[in-house]
Amino acid sequence: MSNSTTPKHFLDLAQWSRRELGAVLELAAELKAAPEMFAGALAGKSLAMIFKKSSTRTRVSFEVGMFQLGGQAIFMSATHTQVGRGEPLPDTARVLSRYVDAIMIRTFEHAEVETLAQYATVPVINGLTDFLHPCQVLTDIFTIQEHLGLGLDELAGLQVAYIGDGNNMANSWINAALRFGFDLKIACPAGYEPDAGLLARVQKQAPGRVAVLLDPLAAARGAHVLNTDVWASMGQEEEARERRKVFAGYQISDNLLKVAAPEPLVLHCLPAHRGEEITGKVFDDHAELIFTQAENRLHVQKALLLTLMN
Ligand code: CP
Ligand code: NVA
Repeated sequence: MSNSTTPKHFLDLAQWSRRELGAVLELAAELKAAPEMFAGALAGKSLAMIFKKSSTRTRVSFEVGMFQLGGQAIFMSATHTQVGRGEPLPDTARVLSRYVDAIMIRTFEHAEVETLAQYATVPVINGLTDFLHPCQVLTDIFTIQEHLGLGLDELAGLQVAYIGDGNNMANSWINAALRFGFDLKIACPAGYEPDAGLLARVQKQAPGRVAVLLDPLAAARGAHVLNTDVWASMGQEEEARERRKVFAGYQISDNLLKVAAPEPLVLHCLPAHRGEEITGKVFDDHAELIFTQAENRLHVQKALLLTLMN
């Protein structure tokens, strides 16, 4: 609960070093292998979870993760708390810091997460904003390591393709490419590119590491990992019809898999729209890995909770 030192937050992969992220990934592997070893590790601790957007995986994996570690999670939907009635986030941050040991938030504007972190005296975790989804992409890295048996250093040898919208997932993949050293090719329609500031930063820090292309085939060529996400994210529902036209062709299909590396991994953060960003066949062919990816949210977030709250 409230103390005078500045807590460490998890808002953005770029704010954590490769070594720190590597330690979370290692801990996640231990947690997955022997969860009983960590039962009670967060006994008596509470996590407040503020949701201004819908969620299945993030909500349930954090809630179950806290329970398995001996603590509790408190679900705060914006519509049933004062958050949704306009209570200022700095006040919410200061009040919750007096009750709980960490706060997770899913919201629209990334600035809100930063404001919460600025005023909270407990760790704040970004459970997705319009800008970033770091819990998901850290889990995706874990899933790749686990499936291919790669150490942290070996991630740098990968070619990763992201096909679709330059959204929170694409932005977080850019951060991951910067941290873990793999090549990332993003294919998206003109006008739907990832964040320009982030692209400029990666181009400066690691020229050539990330390429943004118009052609999905060019992005997929030789890729060991193919990723996609919905064409219309939460908050963009009114654009869905227009986006279906713009994004036609930016789909993970057997045609793309043919030009990828042999037996490529296909990842999807879910929820999926079969027939839009991914064909039903490719989804079904890779469903086992995709649902393991969803499961891994639990293990990686438990590692994150232990790292931040202990
Ligand atoms: N992938 C993901 O974050 O799923 P939810 O929106 O269900 O939390
Ligand atoms: N880009 C998607 C991710 C959902 C997990 C969204 O923001 O809705």
